[in-house]
Amino acid sequence: MDIREKIPHLPEIYVDSNINLLLRRAKENRTVDIEEYETTGGYSALKKALNRFKPEDVIALVEESTLRGRGGAGFPTGRKWRFAIANPQPRYLVCNADESEPGTFKDRIIIERDPHLLLEGMIIAGYAIGAKEGYIYIRGEYPAGYQILKNAIREAREAGYLGEDILGSGFSFDIKVYRGAGAYICGEETALIESIEGKRGHPRLKPPYPPQEGLYGRPTVVNNVETLSNIPIIVTYEAYFMNIGPAGFYGPKLFPISGKVERPGVYEATMDITLRELIEMAGGIKDGKKFKAVFSGALGIYSEEDLDMPMDYSPKGFGGTGTTIVLDEDDCIIDSLIVIANFFYHESCGKCTPCRVGTYEQLNVLRKFQDGTASEKDFKYLEHLAKNIPIGSICGLGYSAPQAIVDAMRKFPEEFKAHLEGKCPAGVCF
Ligand SMILES: Cc1cc2nc3c(=O)[nH]c(=O)nc-3n(C[C@H](O)[C@H](O)[C@H](O)COP(=O)(O)O)c2cc1C
Ligand code: SF4
Repeated sequence: MDIREKIPHLPEIYVDSNINLLLRRAKENRTVDIEEYETTGGYSALKKALNRFKPEDVIALVEESTLRGRGGAGFPTGRKWRFAIANPQPRYLVCNADESEPGTFKDRIIIERDPHLLLEGMIIAGYAIGAKEGYIYIRGEYPAGYQILKNAIREAREAGYLGEDILGSGFSFDIKVYRGAGAYICGEETALIESIEGKRGHPRLKPPYPPQEGLYGRPTVVNNVETLSNIPIIVTYEAYFMNIGPAGFYGPKLFPISGKVERPGVYEATMDITLRELIEMAGGIKDGKKFKAVFSGALGIYSEEDLDMPMDYSPKGFGGTGTTIVLDEDDCIIDSLIVIANFFYHESCGKCTPCRVGTYEQLNVLRKFQDGTASEKDFKYLEHLAKNIPIGSICGLGYSAPQAIVDAMRKFPEEFKAHLEGKCPAGVCF
């Protein structure tokens, strides 16, 4: 029986792809079991890696593939693995399935529908970096995903893909699943590691970075679900992987699209797709309304001028997790910024004073714009906060908390000006 039949309120998520790699088996809203996974080519990449490649060969392949982390920072995966193997064993592999950024719901599709793709990627990654133990840290609000992963791990163990001496190769590896408890900060890799260790999920000072000193003080590779799910595809395709997508940014990418589009959902495409084309893939702006803006999760805003940017990791590309929240003419930029500012205020772990106090201040100043009590001084104060919160912060949450506000001040100054005059262009605030 499909495990999710026991768990109510699981939303139907629309999924589409024009390349059918990561989402090949994930079009329907059901979980692919090990039998179906194997009969559709699953675990053949693992067999190939164990039979034909040394761990070093797998790392070289991942380096050549140009794969970059899909968890937000876009760090080259092969380079991260190489850093880790420069440090002595035991080493750990951690899969980051915390997925808590606003508008981000791509990893859950792999977990809920094609969990063995992730497990196969993890086993190959474990083999490459010389790890015997892997961990999946899944956000607490994904109870179905947690059950599905536990079930898939049991299936993989029974089939000999996990455990001692996998497929007679001499390589042993197993995976444990941990559930988060609803904190966005636990997606930050060092906070996540603290949380697995049973401590409060606060980020560590870096360096040392996890590949040097991570879980239980040992070299640790932390990779995102989508990143690891690319590994079986890379091993399968080898040099042909470099035919998928634009030079330097090869491979499939998932884009969770929500907001004012006709068909919100998770879309798979190559990274030469532009923001405009992606919105068209999702059916265009809902009800024929006019496009206003895109929030890339909580991390920035794009305007009409940016619609032809590629969805890749180049300096002029969209980057990040690929999260696309679309706003139309009826949405207010200030009102939407308040949602994001409230998120950061709520999720700041409080360890650094500029982040703890600054996120609170940002929220309050934006609220003044909304209730018509803001003045020019408040605009300046937002600029001051945007400059200083990142300086005094030790993790990515603090670095990025002002980003959407800074972007909005630059790209939508007229929205701030109108609110200073007591007018809301979208008619939302007053
Ligand atoms: C506040 C915060 C939250 C994060 N949340 C996630 C998350 O939910 N999932 C994720 O993969 N990466 C998240 N990251 C990025 C991770 O710290 C890390 O860079 C990533 O897991 C590395 O995997 P990758 O190289 O495969 O992208 C977050 C970072 C920060 C600063
Ligand atoms: S920057 Fe913010 S979220 Fe990150 S450690 Fe400091 S207080 Fe916590």
